Amino acid sequence: MQIIPAPYPLARPRRMRRDDFSRRLMREHTLTADDFILPVFVHEQAGRAPVPSMPGVERLSIDELLKVAEQALELGVPVLDLFGVPDPDAKTADGRIAWDDDGIIQRAARALKSRFPELGVMSDQALDPYTTHGQDGLIDETGYILNEATIEALIKQSLSHAAAGVDILSPSDMMDGRIGAIRQALEREGFIHTRIMSYAAKYASAFYGPFRSAVGSAANLGKSNKKTYQMDPANSNEALREVALDIAEGADMVMVKPGLPYLDVVRRVKDAFGVPTFAYQVSGEYAMVKAAAQNGWIDHDAVMLESLLAFKRAGADGVLTYFALDAARLLRST
Ligand code: PBG
Repeated sequence: MQIIPAPYPLARPRRMRRDDFSRRLMREHTLTADDFILPVFVHEQAGRAPVPSMPGVERLSIDELLKVAEQALELGVPVLDLFGVPDPDAKTADGRIAWDDDGIIQRAARALKSRFPELGVMSDQALDPYTTHGQDGLIDETGYILNEATIEALIKQSLSHAAAGVDILSPSDMMDGRIGAIRQALEREGFIHTRIMSYAAKYASAFYGPFRSAVGSAANLGKSNKKTYQMDPANSNEALREVALDIAEGADMVMVKPGLPYLDVVRRVKDAFGVPTFAYQVSGEYAMVKAAAQNGWIDHDAVMLESLLAFKRAGADGVLTYFALDAARLLRST
């Protein structure tokens, strides 16, 4: 039998794409400043210091952090995520300044919450910026990361952050059982409102390179890796298992990290659990966009917004992104 082509197409998807009004009418996803969490690096020095591998990103003193917080509030970005950059000689094998109530994160959180109480403050729980070996946890004589001992340290870090006013804890260490242990400790100490966004599916990724330079852990980590606790990039069923455990242990929100190369994981997590799901557009993803744009090979602003929108399409409720202020500014002007 011969198939006779219809003289005219029966459906013309291009009709809806013809004009801006109909494109807007059928748009499935939109990006707003509400979708963003801005990660910030807070150091012990005065003023600002650029992060060479992340053009446009700077390490900030607490005074400078307050200025950035004011911009975030003004642009409608709901949350700042704090990462500490301690002085190199303050690092120890056990990373104990991580739970010092006068540590950099604790002081930064107190300053932010007293000046801008309405701004959400989030912080990272892991020991890597604070340890001499650059690993996220405590190590034994073979260099293996000790699960239970690390959780004890993370509990101290978490309680110290919560006491300083942090609204959202985000354990990024990938130890087994840490969400449940931290949640129990928070409840016991009366921090019943402190939210947890778990780094539930965090991969052992090469995309974290620029971040490790930013917090000053790259040289300490040297040639070691994090493959005994962060996930294998080859897996996604395992991600669902990790997310299920963290939800059962009391996480309020879950995160997939890195972002763009792992959108399939974001989609699977959102479909399987329907919980508040976030993705981290990490330092290496940011650096790639910046480098290509600086060479004039891509349109910076267009790629930035398209990549952020892709997270929404994949099912993310929000994105941790170093572009947060730039994107919010651009969205406001368009
Ligand atoms: C600390 C931590 C890392 C990142 C966030 N928290 C680095 C790592 O796990 O080695 C990476 C963020 C980024 O690359 O932007 N555990």
